[in-house]
Amino acid sequence: MPDARLRLAVLASGRGSNLQAIIDAIDNGRLHAVLALVISNKAEAQALERARKHGAPAVFLDPKATPGKEAYDAVILEHLRKHEVGLVALAGYMKIVTRVIIDAYAGRIMNIHPSLLPSFTGLAAQQQALDWGVKMSGCTVHFVEEGVDTGPIIQQTAVPVLEGDTAESLEARILAQEHRIYPEAIQLFAEGRLAIEGRRVHIK
Ligand code: GRF
Repeated sequence: MPDARLRLAVLASGRGSNLQAIIDAIDNGRLHAVLALVISNKAEAQALERARKHGAPAVFLDPKATPGKEAYDAVILEHLRKHEVGLVALAGYMKIVTRVIIDAYAGRIMNIHPSLLPSFTGLAAQQQALDWGVKMSGCTVHFVEEGVDTGPIIQQTAVPVLEGDTAESLEARILAQEHRIYPEAIQLFAEGRLAIEGRRVHIK
């Protein structure tokens, strides 16, 4: 019988702890998906190692080999198509994704961000939260559209900011929640339970 599971690709640039949470969720049956492909724009990304260990195809695509953002994304898109990817999950992917991928994967590309969006978009979201003095921060899984950390929100979890927190301690507290909600959001997608209506995502 053909394998009907969701074919997932993860794009990552670094450590890959969210990728690892996704792999663990697949391994222990909480996420019914196949890790079809992991792509990184960094040769040394730990994410690539994690993918290989899981037995998933892991590809480093050198941005210098394909100058131009759209041209680079066209190369990524070729790989996504070759591996028959049904959902793209950005997980610490430090490059702007262009229309080339966003149009081809409209409603089928997600990101995780370490703040309660729309607060604190972009880099160093945990430090931004500390600088602003908020008492609660958190993490957000959202669909990706053009623009950094915009797009319909799928899942959010609030995390308290504690007295004496540093960016590192807050990051660790938020990360623990990221590792929980990202595989959950992907599983909802796999079950066909996410419906986008304007800015809102309904969970059926
Ligand atoms: C996470 O905090 C994620 O929310 C953000 O980048 C970080 C990636 O961490 N987009 P990791 O590579 O998954 O460990």
